[in-house]
Amino acid sequence: MSNKPRILIARAISPEVVQRLQQHFEVQSNQDDVVWTPEELAQQLQGKDGVLTTGSQRIDTQLLTACPQLRIVANMAVGYNNFDVPAMTAAGVQGTNAPDVLTETTADFGFALLMATARRICESEHYLRAGLWKDWHYDLFAGAEVHGSTLGIIGMGRIGQAIAKRGAYGFGMKVVYHNRSRLDAALEAECKASYVSKEELLKTADHVMLVLPFTPENRHTIGEAELAQMKPTATLINIARGGIVDDAALAKALREQRIAAAGLDVFEGEPAVHPDLLTVPNVVLTPHIASATKGTRTAMAGLAADNLISYFEGKGPLTPVNQLAR
Ligand code: GLV
Repeated sequence: MSNKPRILIARAISPEVVQRLQQHFEVQSNQDDVVWTPEELAQQLQGKDGVLTTGSQRIDTQLLTACPQLRIVANMAVGYNNFDVPAMTAAGVQGTNAPDVLTETTADFGFALLMATARRICESEHYLRAGLWKDWHYDLFAGAEVHGSTLGIIGMGRIGQAIAKRGAYGFGMKVVYHNRSRLDAALEAECKASYVSKEELLKTADHVMLVLPFTPENRHTIGEAELAQMKPTATLINIARGGIVDDAALAKALREQRIAAAGLDVFEGEPAVHPDLLTVPNVVLTPHIASATKGTRTAMAGLAADNLISYFEGKGPLTPVNQLAR
């Protein structure tokens, strides 16, 4: 047997990245894209030194205990709420994520979802395909204005900032944001964005865009009370994580037209979708594809691979999410 480190690739990824990893490691890949249970994942990880994960494999105490040889988990996602970071640190397991490479692509998608939602593109397409279009009508699928409106961004990290620039420079929008910490003045000026309280943002934004990471504290950042604060004409876009929005409360607000529309790329308990969301017309639903272009998905897997390579070459991880004691 070779003395190369042994790694597992937990889901199918771009073949060129598998090939690159094969030059450095003894690789077990999963190009058939089997979705393993946590127990099956632990089984597949026996004897492996590292693993390349997507954001869907939970790395917790149970798994770490079952896989004592594991040294590093490289997520090909910027979000890493699938990691129990303290448990990984306690077990001496390095975690890495995949920031930056997906920023612009994800911001493009946030904007696409905003446009589709505000301008009712999916709803009107279904109407046309169903053969219901008989004539022009002055308010047929009349939607909400995007240009010149107020964009409220909750979560002003790299992706939030890229969305702010699209709104401010491309669409002449007034951009307000709320974030754990305020950006410095130069960055605010570059994004043409003003810091406001969450309450002020919800009350004034025509379009509310969620781009914050999921943490237990952020669960249901948008629930019944927050939806009630929004304008009845407003749209809500979630490209962040399921669970940041209370999906049941949102479906109710949409049905009662307490807000105009929503665009959701992520869901509580995905890939399951709250059944009530499937029956309301004023919501655009996409299957967690904000970073899904061929180039970006390859770059995300490539960065996860670079993290594994750098780590096992003793150069340290490139984009660590935890600091291990030496
Ligand atoms: C995708 O959701 C990511 O976190 O990269």
